[in-house]
Amino acid sequence: MKNLSLKFIVAITIGFVFSCASDIHENFLKCLHFHNSTSISNVVYTKSSSAYDSLLHFSIQNLRFSSNNIPKPLVIVTPLQPCHVQATVICSQRHGLQIRIRSGGHDFEGISYVSQVPFVIIDFINYRNIQVDLQDRTAWVQVGATVGELYYSIATKTSTLAFPAGVCPTVGVAGQFSGGGYGYLLRKYGLAADNIMDAHIIDVKGRFLDREAMGEDLFWAIRGGGGASFGVILAWKIKLVPVPSTVTLFRVPRTLEQNATKLVHKWQSVASKLPKDLTVSIMLTVQALFQGLFLGGVDKVIPLMRESFLELGLVKEDCTEMSWIEFTLHSWGFGGQPLEVLLNRSQVTRDSFKAKSDYVKHPIPESGLEGLWRLFYEDGGKGVLMVIFPFGGRMGEIPESEIPFPHRAGVLYQIQYAVHWEEKGDEVAQRHIHWIRKLYSYMEPFVSKSPREAYLNYRDLDIGVNNIHGYTSYEQASIWGFKYFKNNFNRLAHVKSKVDPLNFFRYEQSIPSLM
Ligand SMILES: Cc1cc2nc3c(=O)[nH]c(=O)nc-3n(C[C@H](O)[C@H](O)[C@H](O)COP(=O)(O)OP(=O)(O)OC[C@H]3O[C@@H](n4cnc5c(N)ncnc54)[C@H](O)[C@@H]3O)c2cc1C
Ligand SMILES: *[C@@H]1O[C@H](CO)[C@@H](O)[C@H](O)[C@H]1NC(C)=O
Ligand SMILES: *[C@@H]1O[C@H](CO)[C@@H](O)[C@H](O)[C@H]1NC(C)=O
Ligand SMILES: *[C@@H]1O[C@H](CO)[C@@H](O)[C@H](O)[C@H]1NC(C)=O
Repeated sequence: MKNLSLKFIVAITIGFVFSCASDIHENFLKCLHFHNSTSISNVVYTKSSSAYDSLLHFSIQNLRFSSNNIPKPLVIVTPLQPCHVQATVICSQRHGLQIRIRSGGHDFEGISYVSQVPFVIIDFINYRNIQVDLQDRTAWVQVGATVGELYYSIATKTSTLAFPAGVCPTVGVAGQFSGGGYGYLLRKYGLAADNIMDAHIIDVKGRFLDREAMGEDLFWAIRGGGGASFGVILAWKIKLVPVPSTVTLFRVPRTLEQNATKLVHKWQSVASKLPKDLTVSIMLTVQALFQGLFLGGVDKVIPLMRESFLELGLVKEDCTEMSWIEFTLHSWGFGGQPLEVLLNRSQVTRDSFKAKSDYVKHPIPESGLEGLWRLFYEDGGKGVLMVIFPFGGRMGEIPESEIPFPHRAGVLYQIQYAVHWEEKGDEVAQRHIHWIRKLYSYMEPFVSKSPREAYLNYRDLDIGVNNIHGYTSYEQASIWGFKYFKNNFNRLAHVKSKVDPLNFFRYEQSIPSLM
C-alpha cells in the first residue's frame, strides 16, 4: 500500500499538467480521477450524484446544520484505501479547496461537514474495519468505526476486556479519541486518548505515517488536541482494559421534593473521591437521576455507598448485576436489546441542539444550585439536559501535559449543558441558544477560572473562533485554545507549525501555525 501511494503522489506532483480552466471544482475532479488505477471514481460524489444528499445527511448528527441555507461540500469522498485520502489531500491543496473530515459526524458545531469556504468532505463511513487481538489485548480500529461498533467487536470475543470510551454508540472513534473521549471507565482507566498506542495518519504532504514515522510530538498532539488540525487520521491502535465479568448498574431518580438539591450538593464532595471501581454520575433535567457503575457485585456496592453517600439511600432494588457490555446498552437506553443495536449508526432521536461545558473544582453552594433549577423552568430551557460526570481516580494521577487534554487533578466533575429542540427555523433556535448562553453566564462564579476550562469534544464556537479568511494569530486563538488545552496549547501550536506550517488543515477552531 505504501509503495502504491508513493507512486501515486509522484505521479500527481510531476506527471500531471492542469488546464487553466477557471472551474476549480472540475480541475479538482480531474486531479482525483487522474489516478484511475486506484478506482477513486467509485468513491467520489458530486452534487449531481444521486447518492450525494443521502450520504451528506446520513451523518449530520445535529439538525441545526442540515437546512438548505447551510453551505454544502462540492464533493464528498468516501475512501476505501489510504490512497484515496492521499489524492484528496493533494488535490484539495492544488485547487484551493478546504477539507472537512468526518468520522461519526457528532461534532456539536458541525465542523466536520460545514464550511464557509468552498470545501470537500472526506467521509470515512465505509472505512471501518476493526481487528481485535485478544492475546495482545489491543485492537486496530479504522476511523470510520463508531464506538458502538468497537464495543460490539470486543464483546463478541470476550466479556472481560473493554475500552474506556464514550457512552453514545453512534459517535465516531476519530473525533472522539482525538479529542479525549470519556465514559464510565474514566475513573479507573482515564480517557480513550490515554489508551492509544499507535496511529496511522496522512499528513499535509500526503505521506502515510505511523507512530514511529510521525514522531512523538505529532503522536502526542492527535491524542486530545483534535486530529483535524494536523492531518487525516486513518486508524488507531488501542489498548484494551480488563473489566470483571459482573458489574452493577444502579439508578436512583430524585425530584426536588425528594431533596435533589441537598443530594447533588453532597454528591459534589463525594463522587471524585470514591474508589476507582465506583462511578456515580448525574443527569439533571427537572429531576436528578443518579446513575452508577460499580466494577463488581451488588453485595459490595451497597456497603460502599452507605459509607460514603448514605443520604442517597441506595438499596438493592435500585441495582442490577450484568456484564460490562450489557451496562453499555443500559446506559444508552438499549437495556435488554440484542448486541447488534450497537451496530446501528442512526441515533434513536436526532434533533437540533446547542451545548457547552464546564469543569468544577469547588462544590457549588446549595443556593447556586437552586438558581439553576429556576433557569430550567424558563421557556428557552425546555429540552435542557445537564450531564454531570465525576473525575478523580485515574484522572488525577495522569499529569496535565501527558496528552493535550488538561482537565485532570483538582477537577471534581465535568458538566455538559445541552438544550435540544425539534422545531425547525431560526427563531426557535435563537431562543434556545440565547437561553443556554444565559445559563452559562449564570454558572461563571461556580466553575473553573483563568481560564474557564472547556471540553474540546463538546465544541462550542461561542468561546472564540479563528478568522475564516486569512491569518489568525496565536494570541487570538489563545482565547479559546487555553480553555480547551491550558498550557498544552503552546506545544500544540509548535507541533502544528512543524507539520502543517502553511495551515492547510484549518477550521474555526484549528490550532494556528506560528509561521
Ligand atoms: C449524542 C452524543 C453523545 C456523546 N457522548 C460522548 C461521550 O459519552 N463521551 C465523550 O467523550 N464525548 C461524547 N460526545 C462528544 C463526541 O465525542 C464528539 O462530538 C466527537 O468529536 C465526535 O466524533 P465523531 O467522529 O462522531 O464526529 P465528527 O463530527 O465526524 O468529527 C469531530 C471532529 O473530529 C474531526 N475528525 C473526524 N474524523 C477525523 C479523522 N479521520 N482525522 C482527523 N480528524 C477527524 C472532525 O473534522 C471534527 O473536527 C457525544 C456527542 C454526541 C452528539
Ligand atoms: C478509467 O479507466 C477505464 C478503463 O480502464 C476507462 O473506461 C475510464 O474512462 C477511466 N476513467 C477515468 C475517469 O479516467
Ligand atoms: C429531606 O431532608 C430532610 C432533612 O434535611 C428529611 O427530614 C426528609 O425526610 C428528606 N426527604 C426525603 C423525601 O428524603
Ligand atoms: C436503526 O435505528 C433507527 C433509529 O432508532 C431505526 O429507525 C432503524 O430501524 C434501525 N435500523 C435497524 C437496521 O435496526
